[in-house]
Amino acid sequence: MNPAPPLAPDAALTSLLAFWAEAGVDTAYAEAPVNRLEAGRRRLDAPARTAAAAVRGETSLVLSPVGGGVGTASAVAIARDLARAADSLEALAAAIAAFELCPLKTMGARQSVFARGRADAPVMLIGEGPGADEDIQGQPFVGKAGKLLDRMLAAAGLEGEVFITNTVFWRPPANRTPTPEEQAICAPFVARAIELVDPKLLVLVGGAAAKAMLGRPEGILSLRGRWSEWTGEDGHPRPTLPTLHPAFLLRQPAAKKQAWSDLMSVAARLDRERGSP
Ligand code: URA
Repeated sequence: MNPAPPLAPDAALTSLLAFWAEAGVDTAYAEAPVNRLEAGRRRLDAPARTAAAAVRGETSLVLSPVGGGVGTASAVAIARDLARAADSLEALAAAIAAFELCPLKTMGARQSVFARGRADAPVMLIGEGPGADEDIQGQPFVGKAGKLLDRMLAAAGLEGEVFITNTVFWRPPANRTPTPEEQAICAPFVARAIELVDPKLLVLVGGAAAKAMLGRPEGILSLRGRWSEWTGEDGHPRPTLPTLHPAFLLRQPAAKKQAWSDLMSVAARLDRERGSP
């Protein structure tokens, strides 16, 4: 008798599963135990650690794919090489505009939005990411929230003292919060901008910027108004203050008091850093 022809792979699998089911096997286990609670906890912690690690120049925590065959770790490494090679803010802006590996670039943004303000500003503000107005005009914080921010900076005596950028350089679709991976990929450019501007103080505008730059799990309402330090690859620690986002202030005007107190703290610290009495 001729042996039966080999089963097609799908049929073989179906037949094997049927055999196991008949034998009473109804659950699949791995060889080693898996603590799924622990895995879930790590997933929850990972985003903030990922972006902060990339800002500090570590890529090892960043592993997920960005698409087009390039993983996030590779995108971060390429961004870092490009950012390091930029020896001026103009070169950095050009490198960002030509960079293809941030997924946001393919999600409907019209152009890259890098920065505005004084190239040698003593205070650098880092926001979340461009919105609709910024996407059209190519500059950060030029919409309603940006106008409020400008008024507050002027009232605090900080007009002309700032350089303003964001954690990502392309508008996220429907103004969603940028993902930690998107922030991690843009982070080397942010870090290089800090080195090139060399500000005395950093101000993190809103929860998304504070989380990405500081890698802290707390919300902005508990982080705001508290000074810490941000240290980049140049090893230079910079006093850093998270504050409330002006878009939040437009929705919650009562919180302007806290944002005002943060800006007063920035102005006072700047005076101290400059050696004023
Ligand atoms: N919100 C931000 O965080 N950044 C901008 O540039 C505009 C609005």
